[in-house]
Amino acid sequence: MTRRLLVSYLSITFLVLAMLVLPLGFTFASHETDVLLAGIERDAHSVSSLVEDDLEAGIRPSVDGVLADYASGGGRIVVADNRGLSVADSERIGGAPRDFSTRPEIRDALAGSRAEGVRWSDTLGHNLMYVAIPVTSGGVVHGAVRISYPMTELDSRVRQYWLRLGLLSAGTLVMVAAVGFLLARGVTRPVRDLRRVTERLSTGQLDARASTRSGAPELRSLGETVNLMADRLQRLVDSQRVFVADAAHQLRTPLTALRLRLEMLDRGLPAPQRDRLDAALAEASRLGRLVDSLLVLARADAAEPQLAAVDLSEVVTERVDAWTPVALERDVHLEVRVQPCPPAWAVTGSVEQMLDNLLSNAITASPEGGTVTVSVAPETSGTAAGTAEGTAAGTATGEVVLRVVDQGPGLTEEERARAFERFWRAKDARSGGGFGLGLAITRRLAELAGGSVTLVPAPHGSGLQAIVRLRTRGGER
Ligand SMILES: Nc1ncnc2c1ncn2[C@@H]1O[C@H](COP(=O)(O)OP(=O)(O)O)[C@@H](O)[C@H]1O
Ligand SMILES: [Mg+2]
Repeated sequence: MTRRLLVSYLSITFLVLAMLVLPLGFTFASHETDVLLAGIERDAHSVSSLVEDDLEAGIRPSVDGVLADYASGGGRIVVADNRGLSVADSERIGGAPRDFSTRPEIRDALAGSRAEGVRWSDTLGHNLMYVAIPVTSGGVVHGAVRISYPMTELDSRVRQYWLRLGLLSAGTLVMVAAVGFLLARGVTRPVRDLRRVTERLSTGQLDARASTRSGAPELRSLGETVNLMADRLQRLVDSQRVFVADAAHQLRTPLTALRLRLEMLDRGLPAPQRDRLDAALAEASRLGRLVDSLLVLARADAAEPQLAAVDLSEVVTERVDAWTPVALERDVHLEVRVQPCPPAWAVTGSVEQMLDNLLSNAITASPEGGTVTVSVAPETSGTAAGTAEGTAAGTATGEVVLRVVDQGPGLTEEERARAFERFWRAKDARSGGGFGLGLAITRRLAELAGGSVTLVPAPHGSGLQAIVRLRTRGGER
């Protein structure tokens, strides 16, 4: 937009300049020509009155002195008698007469009318301005006077003038460009601000607000509308969050009571009823897990994160120990590779939750006899999205990377992108009995601490690699 405004400023300036400068230049040139012509004509009349009597008397006029003077100024005077033969010529003083009767301007002058014009001189290599007038007395033409004058000086003066006009125009354009740029920036600043705010809103930063103090009234009111929309959006999202948190919280108590009551039911029931009771209990605990997940998400969305420095290797060892029985039950081997690295920033207790979600996914997806590898390493610039282990080479970038790699069927690129959506699950058996909230919670928890979670294909074979990046104390932003 700045560029467009600038282009329009410059176009208008260019038009105005052209409208002023072109007539100015042409007027100057024609004025200079008129002045020169008037001068030559005046000289011709002076010469005419000098030679008039002699020509009338048929004597060769003695004007050699005048002619020589004139020739020294660059001009040329030719005096012809009534037959067109030269009787004086500043170029050939004292020379034999030459016939000028064929020259149109001399012919015109001898016919009694004045002739003037500009012609190109091959011998001199520049334009000549000439005036030819009749020498008359008592209405009879006795001869003609022709004065020609080189136009070099006039031409160079006119050129100089055009050059000055050109420089002035260029200077004006440069100045307009500079001032126009500042003006355009000023005009477009509120638009740029508004764009920034709407971009932030569109990425979910609902606290972004436009400034409504400066800028054009239309833009101010647009800013107010955007702010109003953001306010309503924020209120809506907040109330939804509060509702989910409240609902989850309120559901917990009756759910716990329900489970207690089911557990208290007589264990001595006959087999068919026992099975149904177990199924009911399983459903109740599934519901309990869903409610817990929802509560975690609602809290993560609302919370001002309380960050603490966490030793990832400690948490990894502890959680892998906790998951080992589950893995063994499914004949999955858990492997841990831990490199020494600085503590990472995380919301208290969140690394455990992230690991639980990723391990649960990896174990669920693993084939029988498969291996799930969990690794912790400091991020090095050479291994940004690289291998499962990371390497000690390269320079640390202030991040610690936690990787969980399985040998399951993996996910397609499109599925990997969708996997973080709340309640999304793959359509086949890969999903186990989850609700599709695990990865959403994991990503949210990582982002709260300024980190990130990504899914990429496992470095070897099929399988999926989940990568959690967390900032270290040194890598604070
Ligand atoms: N390691 C994995 N291998 C294959 N598919 C996976 C893996 N991790 C997650 N998924 C897919 O992504 C879906 C969403 O995962 P998640 O958010 O943890 O939800 P949940 O595990 O509760 O279903 C899962 O249902 C599963 O289909
Ligand atoms: Mg899961």
